[in-house]
Amino acid sequence: MSILSLQDVSKDYLTDGQPVHALNGLSLNVERGEFVALVGRSGCGKSTLLNLAGAMDFPTSGKVLVDGVSTSSLKDGGLTRLRRERVGFIFQSFQLLHTLTVFENVELPLLLAGKRYPREVAQERLAWVNLEGLGDRYPHQLSGGQMQRVAIARALIHSPSILLADEPTGNLDTTTGNVILELLRRLTREQNTAIVVATHSLEAASLANTLVRLRDGKIEEITRC
Ligand SMILES: Nc1ncnc2c1ncn2[C@@H]1O[C@H](COP(=O)(O)OP(=O)(O)OP(=O)(O)O)[C@@H](O)[C@H]1O
Ligand SMILES: [Mg+2]
Repeated sequence: MSILSLQDVSKDYLTDGQPVHALNGLSLNVERGEFVALVGRSGCGKSTLLNLAGAMDFPTSGKVLVDGVSTSSLKDGGLTRLRRERVGFIFQSFQLLHTLTVFENVELPLLLAGKRYPREVAQERLAWVNLEGLGDRYPHQLSGGQMQRVAIARALIHSPSILLADEPTGNLDTTTGNVILELLRRLTREQNTAIVVATHSLEAASLANTLVRLRDGKIEEITRC
Protein backbone atom coordinates (compact mmCIF):
# COMPACT_ATOMS: atom_id res chain seq x y z
CA MET A 1 0.00 0.00 0.00
CA SER A 2 1.29 3.48 -0.86
CA ILE A 3 2.23 5.64 2.10
CA LEU A 4 0.45 8.55 0.37
CA SER A 5 -2.27 8.35 -2.22
CA LEU A 6 -4.10 11.31 -3.72
CA GLN A 7 -7.12 10.14 -5.68
CA ASP A 8 -8.78 12.58 -8.06
CA VAL A 9 -8.19 15.39 -5.56
CA SER A 10 -9.56 18.87 -6.07
CA LYS A 11 -9.14 21.78 -3.70
CA ASP A 12 -11.01 25.04 -4.05
CA TYR A 13 -10.42 28.11 -1.92
CA LEU A 14 -12.96 30.88 -1.70
CA THR A 15 -11.51 34.38 -1.98
CA ASP A 16 -13.99 37.27 -1.97
CA GLY A 17 -16.73 34.82 -2.86
CA GLN A 18 -14.83 33.59 -5.92
CA PRO A 19 -13.55 30.01 -6.01
CA VAL A 20 -9.84 29.50 -6.70
CA HIS A 21 -9.15 26.03 -8.07
CA ALA A 22 -5.84 25.27 -6.36
CA LEU A 23 -5.90 21.56 -7.29
CA ASN A 24 -7.91 20.11 -10.16
CA GLY A 25 -8.54 16.36 -10.11
CA LEU A 26 -4.99 15.38 -9.23
CA SER A 27 -3.94 11.76 -8.60
CA LEU A 28 -0.55 10.70 -7.25
CA ASN A 29 0.88 7.75 -5.28
CA VAL A 30 4.01 7.99 -3.14
CA GLU A 31 5.74 4.81 -1.95
CA ARG A 32 7.83 4.22 1.19
CA GLY A 33 11.40 5.36 0.66
CA GLU A 34 10.51 7.39 -2.42
CA PHE A 35 11.90 10.92 -2.85
CA VAL A 36 9.42 13.04 -4.78
CA ALA A 37 10.16 16.61 -5.92
CA LEU A 38 7.15 18.83 -6.67
CA VAL A 39 8.02 21.56 -9.10
CA GLY A 40 6.12 24.19 -11.06
CA ARG A 41 5.42 27.90 -11.20
CA SER A 42 4.36 29.91 -8.16
CA GLY A 43 0.67 29.27 -7.51
CA CYS A 44 0.54 25.88 -9.28
CA GLY A 45 -0.57 24.11 -6.08
CA LYS A 46 2.58 22.69 -4.44
CA SER A 47 1.92 23.96 -0.92
CA THR A 48 -1.75 23.05 -1.21
CA LEU A 49 -0.80 19.48 -2.06
CA LEU A 50 1.59 19.26 0.92
CA ASN A 51 -1.03 20.68 3.29
CA LEU A 52 -3.54 18.08 2.16
CA ALA A 53 -0.94 15.29 2.45
CA GLY A 54 -0.16 16.38 6.02
CA ALA A 55 -3.87 16.56 6.93
CA MET A 56 -3.50 20.26 7.72
CA ASP A 57 -6.34 20.80 5.27
CA PHE A 58 -8.83 18.62 3.39
CA PRO A 59 -9.79 18.14 -0.25
CA THR A 60 -12.97 19.71 -1.64
CA SER A 61 -13.48 16.46 -3.56
CA GLY A 62 -11.52 13.25 -4.04
CA LYS A 63 -9.52 11.41 -1.40
CA VAL A 64 -6.20 11.79 0.37
CA LEU A 65 -5.05 8.51 1.94
CA VAL A 66 -2.09 8.42 4.33
CA ASP A 67 -1.02 4.83 4.90
CA GLY A 68 -4.40 3.74 3.56
CA VAL A 69 -6.52 5.99 5.79
CA SER A 70 -8.60 8.81 4.30
CA THR A 71 -7.76 12.07 6.10
CA SER A 72 -11.36 13.27 5.63
CA SER A 73 -12.65 10.27 7.60
CA LEU A 74 -10.63 11.05 10.72
CA LYS A 75 -11.98 12.79 13.80
CA ASP A 76 -9.89 15.10 15.97
CA GLY A 77 -8.09 12.37 17.92
CA GLY A 78 -7.22 10.40 14.81
CA LEU A 79 -6.00 13.52 13.02
CA THR A 80 -3.79 14.51 15.91
CA ARG A 81 -2.30 11.01 15.99
CA LEU A 82 -1.75 11.01 12.23
CA ARG A 83 0.06 14.35 12.37
CA ARG A 84 2.09 13.39 15.41
CA GLU A 85 2.95 9.82 14.51
CA ARG A 86 3.01 9.37 10.75
CA VAL A 87 3.88 12.72 9.22
CA GLY A 88 6.81 15.10 9.62
CA PHE A 89 6.58 18.64 8.26
CA ILE A 90 9.45 20.98 7.40
CA PHE A 91 8.67 24.60 6.62
CA GLN A 92 10.65 27.08 4.59
CA SER A 93 10.97 29.38 7.60
CA PHE A 94 12.22 26.65 10.00
CA GLN A 95 9.76 27.72 12.75
CA LEU A 96 12.10 27.00 15.65
CA LEU A 97 11.16 28.38 19.05
CA HIS A 98 13.84 30.82 20.03
CA THR A 99 13.46 30.51 23.78
CA LEU A 100 14.09 26.76 23.63
CA THR A 101 17.44 25.03 23.18
CA VAL A 102 18.19 22.85 20.16
CA PHE A 103 17.43 19.72 22.22
CA GLU A 104 14.12 21.17 23.41
CA ASN A 105 13.15 22.22 19.89
CA VAL A 106 13.87 18.74 18.56
CA GLU A 107 11.89 17.13 21.38
CA LEU A 108 8.94 19.52 21.09
CA PRO A 109 6.63 17.16 19.13
CA LEU A 110 7.13 14.51 21.81
CA LEU A 111 6.42 17.00 24.59
CA LEU A 112 3.27 18.16 22.81
CA ALA A 113 2.19 14.55 22.49
CA GLY A 114 2.74 14.14 26.23
CA LYS A 115 5.49 11.59 25.66
CA ARG A 116 8.82 11.36 27.42
CA TYR A 117 11.81 9.96 25.63
CA PRO A 118 15.40 9.72 26.78
CA ARG A 119 17.65 12.53 25.54
CA GLU A 120 19.44 9.90 23.40
CA VAL A 121 16.57 10.00 20.88
CA ALA A 122 17.11 13.71 20.18
CA GLN A 123 20.85 13.13 20.26
CA GLU A 124 20.54 10.43 17.60
CA ARG A 125 18.40 12.66 15.35
CA LEU A 126 20.93 15.48 15.71
CA ALA A 127 23.66 13.03 14.70
CA TRP A 128 21.66 12.12 11.58
CA VAL A 129 21.78 15.75 10.52
CA ASN A 130 25.44 16.16 11.56
CA LEU A 131 24.74 18.47 14.50
CA GLU A 132 26.19 16.40 17.33
CA GLY A 133 27.24 18.56 20.24
CA LEU A 134 24.99 21.54 19.44
CA GLY A 135 21.99 20.41 21.51
CA ASP A 136 22.45 22.96 24.27
CA ARG A 137 22.68 25.97 21.95
CA TYR A 138 19.81 28.33 21.19
CA PRO A 139 18.60 28.90 17.60
CA HIS A 140 20.12 32.42 17.43
CA GLN A 141 23.53 30.81 17.97
CA LEU A 142 23.17 28.76 14.77
CA SER A 143 23.61 29.43 11.06
CA GLY A 144 20.63 29.22 8.70
CA GLY A 145 21.69 25.79 7.45
CA GLN A 146 22.11 24.55 11.01
CA MET A 147 18.65 25.87 11.95
CA GLN A 148 17.14 24.07 8.99
CA ARG A 149 18.88 20.85 10.08
CA VAL A 150 17.41 21.27 13.58
CA ALA A 151 13.99 21.61 11.94
CA ILE A 152 14.65 18.39 10.04
CA ALA A 153 15.76 16.60 13.23
CA ARG A 154 12.54 17.78 14.88
CA ALA A 155 10.44 16.54 11.97
CA LEU A 156 12.15 13.14 12.34
CA ILE A 157 11.93 12.80 16.12
CA HIS A 158 8.94 10.43 15.97
CA SER A 159 10.25 8.46 12.94
CA PRO A 160 7.49 9.54 10.55
CA SER A 161 6.64 7.36 7.56
CA ILE A 162 6.46 10.44 5.38
CA LEU A 163 8.27 13.74 5.52
CA LEU A 164 6.69 16.75 3.79
CA ALA A 165 8.96 19.69 3.08
CA ASP A 166 7.81 23.02 1.67
CA GLU A 167 10.80 24.71 0.04
CA PRO A 168 13.18 23.57 2.77
CA THR A 169 16.16 25.18 1.06
CA GLY A 170 14.42 28.40 -0.01
CA ASN A 171 16.20 30.48 2.65
CA LEU A 172 19.63 28.90 2.23
CA ASP A 173 22.58 29.48 -0.06
CA THR A 174 23.08 26.89 -2.79
CA THR A 175 25.88 24.98 -1.07
CA THR A 176 24.04 24.72 2.25
CA GLY A 177 20.84 23.86 0.41
CA ASN A 178 22.60 21.01 -1.35
CA VAL A 179 23.87 19.62 1.96
CA ILE A 180 20.27 19.60 3.24
CA LEU A 181 19.00 17.91 0.10
CA GLU A 182 21.71 15.23 0.21
CA LEU A 183 20.73 14.64 3.80
CA LEU A 184 17.08 14.20 2.90
CA ARG A 185 18.01 11.80 0.17
CA ARG A 186 20.15 9.76 2.56
CA LEU A 187 17.17 9.51 4.91
CA THR A 188 14.99 8.01 2.24
CA ARG A 189 17.62 5.33 1.75
CA GLU A 190 18.60 4.66 5.35
CA GLN A 191 15.26 5.10 7.14
CA ASN A 192 12.96 4.23 4.23
CA THR A 193 11.15 7.52 4.90
CA ALA A 194 9.13 8.83 1.97
CA ILE A 195 9.86 12.49 1.24
CA VAL A 196 7.83 14.96 -0.77
CA VAL A 197 9.62 18.26 -1.34
CA ALA A 198 8.10 21.34 -2.95
CA THR A 199 10.96 23.21 -4.51
CA HIS A 200 12.10 25.76 -7.04
CA SER A 201 15.60 24.29 -6.90
CA LEU A 202 16.93 22.29 -9.83
CA GLU A 203 19.35 20.50 -7.48
CA ALA A 204 16.45 19.19 -5.41
CA ALA A 205 14.70 18.07 -8.52
CA SER A 206 17.80 16.27 -9.76
CA LEU A 207 18.15 14.28 -6.52
CA ALA A 208 14.58 13.01 -6.55
CA ASN A 209 13.49 9.54 -7.68
CA THR A 210 10.35 11.11 -9.04
CA LEU A 211 9.84 14.57 -10.45
CA VAL A 212 6.26 15.78 -10.47
CA ARG A 213 5.62 18.90 -12.50
CA LEU A 214 2.41 20.74 -11.59
CA ARG A 215 0.59 23.30 -13.66
CA ASP A 216 -2.67 24.99 -12.67
CA GLY A 217 -3.39 22.40 -10.01
CA LYS A 218 -2.87 19.43 -12.30
CA ILE A 219 0.02 17.09 -12.96
CA GLU A 220 1.62 18.17 -16.20
CA GLU A 221 4.35 15.54 -16.22
CA ILE A 222 5.81 12.79 -14.01
CA THR A 223 9.43 11.85 -14.61
CA ARG A 224 10.96 8.81 -12.87
CA CYS A 225 14.70 9.14 -12.60
N1 LIG B 1 -5.69 30.03 1.91
C1 LIG B 1 -5.91 30.35 0.63
N2 LIG B 1 -6.99 31.07 0.27
C2 LIG B 1 -7.24 31.37 -1.01
N3 LIG B 1 -6.46 30.99 -2.05
C3 LIG B 1 -5.36 30.28 -1.75
C4 LIG B 1 -5.01 29.91 -0.41
N4 LIG B 1 -3.87 29.20 -0.44
C5 LIG B 1 -3.52 29.13 -1.72
N5 LIG B 1 -4.41 29.76 -2.52
C6 LIG B 1 -4.36 29.84 -4.00
O1 LIG B 1 -4.27 28.53 -4.49
C7 LIG B 1 -3.35 28.46 -5.58
C8 LIG B 1 -2.23 27.45 -5.25
O2 LIG B 1 -1.46 28.01 -4.19
P1 LIG B 1 -0.21 27.24 -3.56
O3 LIG B 1 0.16 27.99 -2.33
O4 LIG B 1 -0.53 25.81 -3.41
O5 LIG B 1 0.90 27.44 -4.71
P2 LIG B 1 2.45 27.03 -4.72
O6 LIG B 1 2.68 26.16 -5.89
O7 LIG B 1 2.84 26.53 -3.38
O8 LIG B 1 3.16 28.45 -5.00
P3 LIG B 1 4.59 29.00 -4.49
O9 LIG B 1 5.63 28.38 -5.39
O10 LIG B 1 4.48 30.48 -4.70
O11 LIG B 1 4.75 28.65 -3.04
C9 LIG B 1 -2.87 29.88 -5.82
O12 LIG B 1 -3.67 30.43 -6.83
C10 LIG B 1 -3.14 30.57 -4.50
O13 LIG B 1 -3.38 31.94 -4.68
MG1 LIG C 1 4.14 27.24 -1.89
